[in-house]
Amino acid sequence: MKDHPAQPHDLDGNPVRPGLPIAMLAEITHRCPLACPYCSNPVELTRAAGEMPAEDWARVFHEAAELGVLQVHISGGEPGARRDLAQIVASARAAGLYVNLITSGIGITRDRLEELDRAGVDHVQLSLQGIRADMADRISGHPGSWDKKMGFADWVTEIGFPLTINAVVHRQNLDRLPDMIALAERLGARRIEVATVQFHGWADLNRKALMPTREQAAEARRVVNEARIRLRGRMVIDYVPADHHAIHPKACMGGWGSTGLNIAPDGTVLPCHAAQTIPWMRFDNVRERSLRDIWLGSDAFNAFRGTEWMPEPCRGCDRKNIDFGGCRCQAMALAGDARATDPVCSRSPLNAALVARAEEDAAAETSDFIYRRMKKGV
Ligand code: SF4
Ligand code: FES
Repeated sequence: MKDHPAQPHDLDGNPVRPGLPIAMLAEITHRCPLACPYCSNPVELTRAAGEMPAEDWARVFHEAAELGVLQVHISGGEPGARRDLAQIVASARAAGLYVNLITSGIGITRDRLEELDRAGVDHVQLSLQGIRADMADRISGHPGSWDKKMGFADWVTEIGFPLTINAVVHRQNLDRLPDMIALAERLGARRIEVATVQFHGWADLNRKALMPTREQAAEARRVVNEARIRLRGRMVIDYVPADHHAIHPKACMGGWGSTGLNIAPDGTVLPCHAAQTIPWMRFDNVRERSLRDIWLGSDAFNAFRGTEWMPEPCRGCDRKNIDFGGCRCQAMALAGDARATDPVCSRSPLNAALVARAEEDAAAETSDFIYRRMKKGV
């Protein structure tokens, strides 16, 4: 392969050749009936008129498969908000991709779920906001969501899809984590993803209502470890811990531009879901440039590949090829510099201030949310 002019390098000056992506997140819409205050969509949401048509998605899925992508996560917003969802799913399947549908379960009827089964959905991932109607409806900002989700979960297992439960946890529901795991078991899930809120975008606006306490973070780790042993062979537990209370940061996206990519509703190709919070970064659109060219050669994807870009203390650190300096978007949000060491790392010079701020947010009295809306509002 010929080196691309924008090719990144390691600390010895050797060019770094990008690997191939395995998974792609296709955010086909930002429309959603829920209003979760930690939504990973950007604060500036794309409206329906800006969404890429199904024909373009079909081409993108073929380009992705040719590039090496094996599975596509079709998500949103709520993907069911698109009337042509079955067409989009069918085109992903026709491209040879394993299709995972990530949904709130709201707005998809049983007939429609059967249609999606015929179209080629291989796996369903259902988000849950709480373990009771009052909690789930308040957090999602959608009265009646709980009953609809429970009905949807039954259809998923009756039709025979493998089911994963997505449980986003934070200060207001973390104490009920054992019940959440038990609920996933009862619903017949094969996997539960317990993901502590990541404080970008909407979640960052809600830090004071969502930040877990240090004690909650420690207890969650204990609960997950205990449940993993008890449920071995029956249900897998994936866990994204509360990294504001951790020693080292997470290897976000498994490393920037290494195994995955996201496509926004309008066709913008992103190295991660929060990359647009980095103000100086420019992103290509798959309607204007091939996915292969964007993956291999775009400035955005090459910005944080390799190790040459790293600052100290990451440059001299024995973990630089393990966590890759942490999350770039978190560095942007917390240090004001996407090139900085992720401040959640205990070796970052900003860590002490970050921990103090996290403790302060965790002790805040408020439980009020700023809900996700097309137009920001309480
Ligand atoms: Fe990771 Fe950098 Fe911290 Fe080392 S200094 S653990 S590479 S974030
Ligand atoms: Fe963007 Fe972590 S969310 S690098």
